[in-house]
Amino acid sequence: MTLRAVVRGVGHYLPARVVENAEFEKSLDTSDEWIRSRSGIERRHFVTEDDTTSSMATAAAQAALKDAGLGPDDLDAIILATSTADLTFPSAATMVQAQLGMTGGFAFDVQAVCAGFVYALSNANALIVSGQAKRVLVIGAETFSKIMDWTDRGTCVLFGDGAGALVLEAQEGAGTAADRGILATDLNSDGRHRDLLYVDGGVSTGTSGYLRMQGNQVFRHAVEKLAATAETAMERAGVTSDDVDWIVPHQANIRIIQGTAKKMGVEMDRVIVTVQDHGNTSAASIPLAMSVGRANGQIKDGDLLVTEAIGGGLAWGAVVLRW
Ligand code: UT7
Repeated sequence: MTLRAVVRGVGHYLPARVVENAEFEKSLDTSDEWIRSRSGIERRHFVTEDDTTSSMATAAAQAALKDAGLGPDDLDAIILATSTADLTFPSAATMVQAQLGMTGGFAFDVQAVCAGFVYALSNANALIVSGQAKRVLVIGAETFSKIMDWTDRGTCVLFGDGAGALVLEAQEGAGTAADRGILATDLNSDGRHRDLLYVDGGVSTGTSGYLRMQGNQVFRHAVEKLAATAETAMERAGVTSDDVDWIVPHQANIRIIQGTAKKMGVEMDRVIVTVQDHGNTSAASIPLAMSVGRANGQIKDGDLLVTEAIGGGLAWGAVVLRW
């Protein structure tokens, strides 16, 4: 028997304010046509004063717990992937713990920018297969609108806010690729590329700073590294791209999503795409896409998923899981 981290519930939250591409035409030298054709993005959600990263994470967590038929004290741990925690500390995860009314266990943030949810899933898997936790709530939540330079058309049209969450539970499997749950993970980073995507503020500057990105340079790394990490994770899981029901990619750019799927030999009708409606929500994009894919009937029990992401660091990785 092999312990597996199996998905028991999923949920998401999007702030109510929706901003269409055309809104940016009023203040920037840009167009709906440019944003759509270069990124695939049509609209995104932005927080108003009612929402923070931790409040959105809590709402997504409550939806996932409801889907799982569990309460907060059924959890052993919370891992929250975010680069936009409400405060420098405490972790946004402990704020979620309090907001959920969870009185035991432990909670911490994972910071790997757009790859954060893949890193968080991998950490949750390690806690579960090592017997340290039976149920782990894994959340991705971001408020990237708070770190946008609204005069920089190369970045501010691309990002959005939101949160998604999964409840993972220890279940016994046979140790084969037919098991439900996380079958394999692959994580990578290369800090030599830190200048390609970073925030120019933090403790050292006394400001929270703005996101800076050399988009076309990140793009050059993305397809190659995403396809490679997905292949590594699939090989570890003992599956091939023919076995894959859904790629659930990080939703940064439709051209990256298409290029990666093509390199993996998977047709676009087996890829969950939400970038048109959410923009790039960094660590929230994968659980948001999983939740939407589940809600609209695309992802079914027993489906084999490959999820992959890359972002600042550079940090990237992939997870193979059977729903
Ligand atoms: O999630 C974390 C990881 N991040 C990513 O994966 C993002 C990866 N990168 C991308 O998605 C794409 O590189 C972008 C969507 C950011 C940009 O697309 P691109 O095809 O790489 O365009 P580019 O940066 O090479 O810029 C092409 C042109 C430039 O003008 P010139 O120099 O050719 O005259 C830009 O100034 O497009 C211009 N441009 C814009 N024009 C209208 C840049 N932003 C805009 C804009 N509207 N918003």
